[in-house]
Amino acid sequence: MKILGIETSCDDTSVALYDSERGVAENLLSSQVELHDQFGGVVPELASRAHLVNLLPLVDHLLRRQEMEPGDLDGVAVTNGPGLIGALLVGLSTAKALARAANVPLVGVHHLEGHLLANALSGELVLPAVFLVVSGGHTELIYVSEVGRYERLGGTLDDAAGEAFDKSAKLLGLPYPGGPHIDRLAAAGDPQRFKFPRPLIKDPRLVFSFSGLKTAVRLTVEDLPRPYQDQDIADISRGVQDAIVEILCRRLFQAAAEKRVPAVYIAGGVAANGALREAVANQARRRSLHFSPPERVYCTDNAAMIAYAGWEHLRAGCRADLDLDSFARAPLTSWR
Ligand code: KG4
Ligand code: ZN
Repeated sequence: MKILGIETSCDDTSVALYDSERGVAENLLSSQVELHDQFGGVVPELASRAHLVNLLPLVDHLLRRQEMEPGDLDGVAVTNGPGLIGALLVGLSTAKALARAANVPLVGVHHLEGHLLANALSGELVLPAVFLVVSGGHTELIYVSEVGRYERLGGTLDDAAGEAFDKSAKLLGLPYPGGPHIDRLAAAGDPQRFKFPRPLIKDPRLVFSFSGLKTAVRLTVEDLPRPYQDQDIADISRGVQDAIVEILCRRLFQAAAEKRVPAVYIAGGVAANGALREAVANQARRRSLHFSPPERVYCTDNAAMIAYAGWEHLRAGCRADLDLDSFARAPLTSWR
């Protein structure tokens, strides 16, 4: 089966082709980072307009490279939520038009399911498993017994982990999104100089909180002499990253122990973070749990993960109608 995937939930326009015999045949991305950087974050209306300009040319480019017509597809999978509603609508209406014109099935994919299943693009999934989904909008622990069966175990009470990275980076004057910059700069940072709080770390529940961390970073940055020295920025980056990684790891392995699973996974943009990947790998090894990190291109928003998830739906006989709606917020629910 050849499934076209479309992802426009935030600021990346992405289209991909998943071929169940060949794997990911295409994964094209048009980033809007430069457009939003001047505003220090994503401007929803600008994101929608940019998707509108970029999406059809990307689809066209993909089909031409693959020497395919829309009618050669076996399905069109699209992220229909959660995300920015205007941005989602651009992807959803395009997917509906393509599916209708080519007379092929349409599938709506929950963005978090896409992130979870991105792990299947880098190797066979070991299930049941606990997944930590960490992105700019989400920090969630999800128990997956099989593809299509999801149980939310816990999540953040305030900011997402990616937001904690991005807001700290903004305080340091780094470009948006700041996560990858903190990842890079932290390598030269002194781990002893700044010890930031680990909010709720003693709480027995599977919860996260990052808003206190952001405040602590703001107070630290305000105390720094201007102009900031490169070493100051590296040391704060290191302190922030160490705090976030420790909080995330603690909860992931707590959840894995509670659910007695043989495997753990990480997903979402923050799963590209080098320190998180290393810390999870080390702890998983110590506890004899299976773990293999997803390829970095499949951590941040991409349509390959949506096309793959769409294929899972279709081969289980699930498809959407043309009245499929988009949604800004909603938890991931089971469909199997
Ligand atoms: O999954 P994603 O592309 O979009 C959402 O669904 O939100 O995640 C984007 C988030 C941003 O907050 C970004 O700073 C963060 O992922 N991120 C990182 C890294 N790469 C992306 N955070 C830490 N280290 C990274 N290497
Ligand atoms: Zn995402």
